[in-house]
Order: sequence, then structure tokens, then C-alpha cells
Amino acid sequence: VDLAVHGDDFKRFEAEGWSRRAETFDLVVGRVTARVIEPLLDSAHVGAGSRVLDLACGPGHIAAAAAARGAEVVGVDISERMVELARERHPAIGFEVGDAERLPFPSASFDAVLAGFVFNHLPSPEAAMAEIARVLAPGGRVALTVWDEPERARIVGLLADAIREAGIDVDAQVASGPSPYRLADDAEMLKLLTGAGLAGAGVSTYAFDHPAEDADELWEGLLGGSIRTTASVERAAPEARERAREAFGRLLERHRVGDGFAVPAVVKLGSAQRR
Ligand SMILES: C[S@@+](CC[C@H](N)C(=O)[O-])C[C@H]1O[C@@H](n2cnc3c(N)ncnc32)[C@H](O)[C@@H]1O
Repeated sequence: VDLAVHGDDFKRFEAEGWSRRAETFDLVVGRVTARVIEPLLDSAHVGAGSRVLDLACGPGHIAAAAAARGAEVVGVDISERMVELARERHPAIGFEVGDAERLPFPSASFDAVLAGFVFNHLPSPEAAMAEIARVLAPGGRVALTVWDEPERARIVGLLADAIREAGIDVDAQVASGPSPYRLADDAEMLKLLTGAGLAGAGVSTYAFDHPAEDADELWEGLLGGSIRTTASVERAAPEARERAREAFGRLLERHRVGDGFAVPAVVKLGSAQRR
């Protein structure tokens, strides 16, 4: 993808950020997102022989789960390192570099498009949904996941709150990006799906706890799987970073269970069908 041609600083920031985060994504965040893969596949009716696109595949967990159901799968991601990692881990599946807003596929070529935790990273969700509708065959289905609002999805909210408490200014320090929680609102999710001309739009909510043993591991893992927040922390002064780590520990105590923690994760899953 020639991002420079499209002049899109935010996408370049994301592509570079995710390439640097590819190896650490699975410490925590990739394990949390993996817990909603089966509902995602079910919503899009993925089965043996389905032609599936794993959009923003990251290291390829969703693609692998679809292939395990006997689907014909291809994965796409804007980060070169994520695509390399997905190829290393799943050599039998095809992965390529591409932008969700300009999919490198002919029209009507998939029975299912699965988009896990990417719509919160896109400058134009409408452009991406129009592309999805274009590449879906008639009757094909899309299923996408995003985090719920951070006051409920504490797995993402803890880090953001800790940074705010430490006085680290996120907006001033990273590329100004799209609102990460717009689609946590069911009405916005439905509007996005129906606005692309899709039928039978619906939203479900999945709530579960992520078990964690150790606060430091959770802190490192969350930073290793975030882009905008981590960029802010990396650019902050060491004392501010230290304050954020302390605030994180304090906020995390609310989720203590015995010797460890149970951190609430809440996910919105939207789905619809091409007419
Ligand atoms: C949170 S990860 C999700 C990975 C995987 N789908 C999952 O559910 O675990 C977000 C992924 O979106 C990719 N991404 C961000 N912007 C993108 C874009 N415009 N087009 C394609 N992929 C993009 C990133 O490179 C990253 O791998």
C-alpha cells in the first residue's frame, strides 16, 4: 500500500505502530480479542467452503479459526510486520498487505468478511464498510468487533485512565485519530451497516473477565498491544510514566480477586448481510 500517495498520516502512524507491536500483541490484547473469535465466525455463518476475508488480520488468529472450520481464507493487514508474522505462524493461509478502505480484491468475492478490532482504528469507517459491501457476494455476511466504552471495557479503560491521572496528554502527543469508541454506540453501529446498503443489521454485546496474575505483566502487555496510548506513554517523561504505572496499579486493585485480577472486557459485535 502506498500510504504516502493517499497522504494519510494516521494510517502510516497505525501501520508503523502495529509493526512495532506485532511481537507483543499476544502478551495480553491478542489473547483477549481471541475470546470473541468463535462468535464472530458464527455471526458470519463461516463453515466448510466459505470464502472468508480476515480484515486487519494481525497475527492471523481469526483466519486460523476460519481455516479450522474448513473455510477458504485470506487475510489482509496494513502492517507489514503483522502480515509477516501471520505468514510465519500460518503458512497454509494467504496473507497480504492492504488497507481496509481500499481492499485489493474484486467485487463479490467473499461469503464472509470478519473485521476484528479494526474499525476503532479507521479514519473512515464508512469507506471501509462500503468496501466490505463491495467485496461480499450477494447473501454474504460481515461481522465486526469493537471495544465497548472504556468505563465498561476496563481492559482498555484502565490504561487510558492511568495515563490521564498521570497528566499525560494523549491528544497532544499522537497523531490525531478518529474516535475509538464511536461504534460502541449500537445506533452508530447499525447506521454504519445499513448505510452501506446491508440488510439484517444487528449488534450483540459480549462481556467476560480477563484473568491476570501480575500487574506488571498486565501493564507491559497492554502497552504492547496498544498504539495511541503507548505512543503517548513512550513520549512522556520518565516521572510521568512512573506516575501512570502507579495509577494503573491503584485502579487495577478494584478488580482484585484473591491473588490475581479479573478485568472486565466488553465487546460489541455488529453483523449484517449483503442483499
Ligand atoms: C487490534 S489489532 C486486531 C487484530 C486481529 N483482527 C484481532 O482481532 O486480534 C488491529 C489491526 O488492525 C490493523 N489495521 C489498522 N488500520 C488498518 C487499515 N486501515 N487497514 C487494514 N488493517 C489495519 C493493524 O495493523 C492491526 O493489525
